[in-house]
Amino acid sequence: MNSILLYCRPGFEKECAAEIQDKADGMAFYGFAKTKANSGFVIFQCHEAGVAETLAKKVSFNQLVFARQLIICIAHITDMPVDDRISAIIANVDDLPVCGHIFVETADTSEAKELSKFCRKFTVPVRQALRKHKKLLPDEVQNRPTVHLMFTGTDSAYLGYSYSYNHSPYPMGILRLRSPSDAPSRSTLKLEEAFLTFIPEEEREERLTSGLKAVDLGASPGGWTYQLVRRGMMVSAVDNGTMAESLMETGQVRHYMEDGFKFKPSKKNIHWLVCDMIEKPAKVAELMAWWLIEGYCKEAIFNLKLPMKRRYDEMKHCFDLIDELLKENEVRYQLQAKHLYHDREEITVHLKRG
Ligand SMILES: C[S@@+](CC[C@H](N)C(=O)[O-])C[C@H]1O[C@@H](n2cnc3c(N)ncnc32)[C@H](O)[C@@H]1O
Repeated sequence: MNSILLYCRPGFEKECAAEIQDKADGMAFYGFAKTKANSGFVIFQCHEAGVAETLAKKVSFNQLVFARQLIICIAHITDMPVDDRISAIIANVDDLPVCGHIFVETADTSEAKELSKFCRKFTVPVRQALRKHKKLLPDEVQNRPTVHLMFTGTDSAYLGYSYSYNHSPYPMGILRLRSPSDAPSRSTLKLEEAFLTFIPEEEREERLTSGLKAVDLGASPGGWTYQLVRRGMMVSAVDNGTMAESLMETGQVRHYMEDGFKFKPSKKNIHWLVCDMIEKPAKVAELMAWWLIEGYCKEAIFNLKLPMKRRYDEMKHCFDLIDELLKENEVRYQLQAKHLYHDREEITVHLKRG
């Protein structure tokens, strides 16, 4: 097919398409994105034969904001006989490399999710068939490509593979988390997902550890503060709203009833700044950049609430603003952003000095 299949949150196909188009154009991989509103996926069709694989290696999955998964698509199998789907799939596996494991999955739409039970059941026979045809190793390994079979109906599916070093390791590209029963709000999952997404496992002990100081702007009722507290950090929670009593009782939280845009820490010893204030995205982006410039914090995680109509442009405008401010002030930085599973109309950004 010479195309790339990307998963996204339903309703964000245009943003996902605009982003892959931008990246591909920037690397002179010409093609066009095909989208269907609310389908939860995008196909990027490359013009030049055989380049989809190279594009999927060169475009960094971590640098894509709206894509939940990045797959080299080798076939769109339709009209599968429902009593023998396996033969139809096996007839299309020539271009599949030897893979380490398989995800039989769907897009994240309500209709597609009705197929989830079928996908789970179908995983066993398709896995066996791929092993028999030497397209899947006998034992699961994580450092080989992953086969993706994404069903769009009981008789149709996209078949492809992703690279273990440039994909999401989760089925459907979704990191599923259980809401802790003692957390003050469900938004706690956003910060947990952000930490697990942006901070590599081997660095968490150092960067997400007890004793670090943190500031939470727009903290009430405390879902994000909860994540910092449970990692043993000391938190300045800034919000005119109230904080959950259970958090205040830990002795790790100091509550400042102040404006988050005016709050300044008394010492430059803050590691984490987190910010979930509902405000104009450019205003939040600018504030975050200044915290880094002033040396108030080492790393920040914040949300940018994107306007419905110009989400992609607004995101780029915010990133340009951050870049301009930090460059002007000679601060080197790293920025990653994702439209996380627990995000809705917002994206989550990680900004780090250095
Ligand atoms: C989405 S809620 C935060 C939820 C919180 N992260 C949690 O997990 O429980 C947004 C909060 O930002 C606060 N907020 C909005 N503008 C603010 C400002 N200028 N200064 C401080 N807090 C602000 C609101 O009072 C509100 O409590």
